[in-house]
Amino acid sequence: MYNKLQSCLKSIREKTDFKPEVGLVLGSGLGDFAETIKTEATVEYKDIEGFPVSTVKGHKGRFVFGYSGDIPVVIMQGRVHYYEGYSMSDVVLPVRLMGLMGAKKIILTNAAGGINPKFSAGDLMIITDHITTGVPSPLIGPNIEELGTRFPDMSEVYSRRMTDIIRKSAAECGIAPKEGVYVQFTGPNYETPAEIRMASRWGGDAVGMSTACEAMAARHMGLEVCGISCITNMAAGISQNMLNHKEVQETADKVSGRFKALISKVISEI
Ligand code: HPA
Repeated sequence: MYNKLQSCLKSIREKTDFKPEVGLVLGSGLGDFAETIKTEATVEYKDIEGFPVSTVKGHKGRFVFGYSGDIPVVIMQGRVHYYEGYSMSDVVLPVRLMGLMGAKKIILTNAAGGINPKFSAGDLMIITDHITTGVPSPLIGPNIEELGTRFPDMSEVYSRRMTDIIRKSAAECGIAPKEGVYVQFTGPNYETPAEIRMASRWGGDAVGMSTACEAMAARHMGLEVCGISCITNMAAGISQNMLNHKEVQETADKVSGRFKALISKVISEI
């Protein structure tokens, strides 16, 4: 895996030597933040040898390098998911690469279903912690010593420092964000109402199919991580409605203006 990471890195370095400070992963429907930055280079995932390419419709697949304000950032416009059939180590490869490119801070975003009854579709949730009991750890397998230790601590996956910055930035943007625990399931099916009741009793506030595994891999490398979920729908059984991907995308589109303002502000303060 470390050799694969190094060859992907070499392939990117042949196209750009841009050194980001912050890495940002844009979730479903949130990808157009990338259009707000001063772009210096883009690299399509398909042009990186050995790189996992997303198969989900509506997900672009590229790294965008540039400046948000005066901060050098790399943006993943589109991610790969475990449910696409990739191994967990391939799923987290792009985030690890952002770390190897030089990013020390990672902002993860996603679309998620709301479990907490105080949430509504269209809310933004600051991720304070996560539960990944439903998915294999991306750290299973021989430990990559060059990246981190065998048994990494996970007691503060989402940096309190960065979480405070998101809170303050949100207030300045006139946004009242929710906060809570993100539960990752494998997907691609949405959950059953019984699974959502279980996740609620576990202490989950929102549910999705990404992010937590990336956060774990980033923490393993010692990167500072924060996360924001866009609550695109209430989870199965919380709302009586049937769930569909179109609704997820439509809500993400509606929130996109507020989301972009918040992300720009967070990057400038980080
Ligand atoms: N469940 C899982 N993933 C999701 C959901 C959901 O309800 N909404 C958006 N992504």
